[in-house]
Amino acid sequence: MAVPHLKSWDVAVVGEIFADHIFTGFPHWPQPGEEVIAQGYVRELGGGSVNTACGLSRLGRRVRLVGLIGDADFDWFEQRLGEFGVGMGGIRLEHDGTGITVSVSMRDDRTFFTYPGANRGLAEWLTVPAVIADLAAARHVHFAMPLSRELAGSVLPALRAAGCTTSLDVGHTPAWLTDPANLATCREVDLFLPNAAEAALICGDPSAEAYLAWASANGLARTVLKRGALGALAMAGGVTSQVPPPVVEAVDTTGAGDAFNAGLIDAWLDDVPLGPALERACVCGALCSTAPGALAALPHSPQLRTLRERTYRS
Ligand SMILES: Nc1ncnc2c1ncn2[C@@H]1O[C@H](COP(=O)(O)OP(=O)(O)OP(=O)(O)O)[C@@H](O)[C@H]1O
Ligand SMILES: [Mg+2]
Repeated sequence: MAVPHLKSWDVAVVGEIFADHIFTGFPHWPQPGEEVIAQGYVRELGGGSVNTACGLSRLGRRVRLVGLIGDADFDWFEQRLGEFGVGMGGIRLEHDGTGITVSVSMRDDRTFFTYPGANRGLAEWLTVPAVIADLAAARHVHFAMPLSRELAGSVLPALRAAGCTTSLDVGHTPAWLTDPANLATCREVDLFLPNAAEAALICGDPSAEAYLAWASANGLARTVLKRGALGALAMAGGVTSQVPPPVVEAVDTTGAGDAFNAGLIDAWLDDVPLGPALERACVCGALCSTAPGALAALPHSPQLRTLRERTYRS
């Protein structure tokens, strides 16, 4: 018989939160002083924390999203997060506005303009004992942020003492990834989750083999390597596993890595070993890429199970 979990949440997801403004269909990049007209525009919640929290909730997990937004956006966030079953209880409202990312898509490339806004208060907020207690009420805490060494040194031991496991996706943050001080943080989390470009910055070599050798030599307990359409690799206790992704018609891979994280953490909570857990993660990443934006195609458990069985058991 399964033992009931006494914690209030399965996962607390903490990190930067954004309002994404996505402009598409420009004829060309403007010259300074010129105006160009977009064919399309959408506004959506953004940030790896939001994407992974919504992904986990879609999979049926009890999720606490922890982060900062501007008070003017409360209603919008409550309504949109509510569509995924994620509540606002872990959100703090700031007078400073919500962080903003403006994404400008040309035919071959995307450019981002970012204003951190309320996220600037996140590191300091994570030193407040009540916030640590909020995180510690979850079985697992996922950090979708470049967790500073100083903060990691206080928060990770507190969470471990409270019986939480942890994962970390710092995103594409070259300053964090190339700072040797952060190696200790990579070791202290249970799951370290870079993509290929991030792993190359950490180990100074673009090959997957070099990253896994680096992770093993430096004593990381577990790591994965997200490789886009090539799928993913994992290393746990010196043993590597590799999984190709399901073949899907990818239309927009924004947030695929965050959806992958949700699938991996979902498997982790079920005590699935890291190798087979990659299957769940790759299916989530692949399905996420089948619709525009990071949230629209996050799978429910039956969709995940169906595509996983079709892909890996046939
Ligand atoms: N074109 C694709 N086809 C199938 N699966 C994909 C595709 N792109 C991504 N995936 C799946 O999603 C996972 C994560 O994607 P990716 O490696 O692009 O992460 P990422 O760069 O961290 O993404 P992001 O930061 O935009 O969320 C991959 O490991 C793979 O399993
Ligand atoms: Mg990523």
